[in-house]
Amino acid sequence: MPSPARRRRSGEGARPSGSTALILAGRAFVRGRLQSVEIAIGDDGRIQSVGKVRSGGPRRDVGDAVILPAAVDLHVHLRDPGGPAEAETIATGTVGAALGGVTLVGEMPNTRPPVTSAEAWEEKARRVEGRAAVDVLLYGSPTVPRALPDLARHVGGFKLYLSPTTAIETPVRPAELPDLWRRLSEYRLPISVHAEDPALFRTEPPPVDPEGWNQHRPVDSEMSALRWLTEAPRPLRLNAAHVTTAEGVRLLREAGLCFEATPHHLLLSERSGSDARHKVNPPLRSEVERRGLWDAFRRGEIPVLASDHAPHPGDSKGLPFDRAPSGVPGVETMLPLMLAKARNGELDLGLLMVAACDRPARWLGQPVGRIAPGHRANLLVVDFTQRSTVVGRALRSPCGWSPFEGWEVIRPREHYRDGVRIVEAGEFVGTTTGRVVRPEFAPGEGDDEGSPTGGPVPGRSGI
Ligand code: DOR
Ligand code: ZN
Repeated sequence: MPSPARRRRSGEGARPSGSTALILAGRAFVRGRLQSVEIAIGDDGRIQSVGKVRSGGPRRDVGDAVILPAAVDLHVHLRDPGGPAEAETIATGTVGAALGGVTLVGEMPNTRPPVTSAEAWEEKARRVEGRAAVDVLLYGSPTVPRALPDLARHVGGFKLYLSPTTAIETPVRPAELPDLWRRLSEYRLPISVHAEDPALFRTEPPPVDPEGWNQHRPVDSEMSALRWLTEAPRPLRLNAAHVTTAEGVRLLREAGLCFEATPHHLLLSERSGSDARHKVNPPLRSEVERRGLWDAFRRGEIPVLASDHAPHPGDSKGLPFDRAPSGVPGVETMLPLMLAKARNGELDLGLLMVAACDRPARWLGQPVGRIAPGHRANLLVVDFTQRSTVVGRALRSPCGWSPFEGWEVIRPREHYRDGVRIVEAGEFVGTTTGRVVRPEFAPGEGDDEGSPTGGPVPGRSGI
């Protein structure tokens, strides 16, 4: 017998509460396919019913556009506090998210100072209040043992770095993992892991371009660290961040772990560009590896799509390759790039909705990402005839560049947060009332398939 909370989230037996604030009518992505429905939204911002509505509330018909659940990006870096503000802030990054159809972001702890204590977490949470356009889940870094119990009472999840990267000089060593897993198993919180094994990084020849970077931090260093994750005790709610190869996909699927892939690893290779704007950790791989990853994504074998939005100022990317920072922006382009792929028949829309909306929401324990009664009415209206291209300097991020310059995109026309429109005609019209959120339900709960990696792949859903 499912719990009442679970029944409410899955929609069974949900009771409309309060009055209906808005009825959105049109073709909507519901239960794995597009169908004509009316979505009743309560004045509490939750979906009351999906189907035919008899009475109440103002009605808006979206015409030829479609209604989709808004996306959840469980991997972003907003550089706040500590900057550089020329790259991003909570204020700018969350507006970029809203414009890109992302309604909730998981913000990483490698800011300055790093979020290793409750005090550092509180300082960051204060910066979200009154400045965020969408909701923000703040990860913590569990690397200071005496600060951990207090930190765990605040954070929405943890992020572990197993290799050096931006603002991480001393990563967690493999010998420390068993003790860390034991401590973390007390909290039932999501744990995302940057998996590269620095012992397998190569120093020669010195990297001077993205191909050299791929040799410097090779696929075998990633595979080695992914194997450590498969040895972690269960049930820990792990997610392997930015997996770059089909071999990694196979390993993690066999182990039953959640994992993500990014648009840059799915769509770009080591030859897509020759300067540091294509320098990222883990590196862009060979075209053969990229294609293998993309094919796995198209077959529905990758549970989660996440941007690893990691903006750096344009000037810093103009430094000599070895001195330039790693990371690319992506929160505003992630869903629009993939909606264009879906429009062109290269990607099934249903599969995209599961990977970009439903699974990341479930992994973070958030009642969004699905058009179903009891869920928050965080929805997009998308007109698939409105194609455009990425222009880096027109993006909201002050960094002003994108590795996807010139790529075709379909941007959401409208974005509703709790039933209130925050994007209209592709422009941000909302307020800065985004909240700090924590998981509302535990692993497996609210996940109809029982596991974040499981679940059927919806059939071709058409646009
Ligand atoms: O390329 C990267 N950039 N990889 C990371 O792990 C961190 C990120 C950043 O924060 O810049
Ligand atoms: Zn990252």
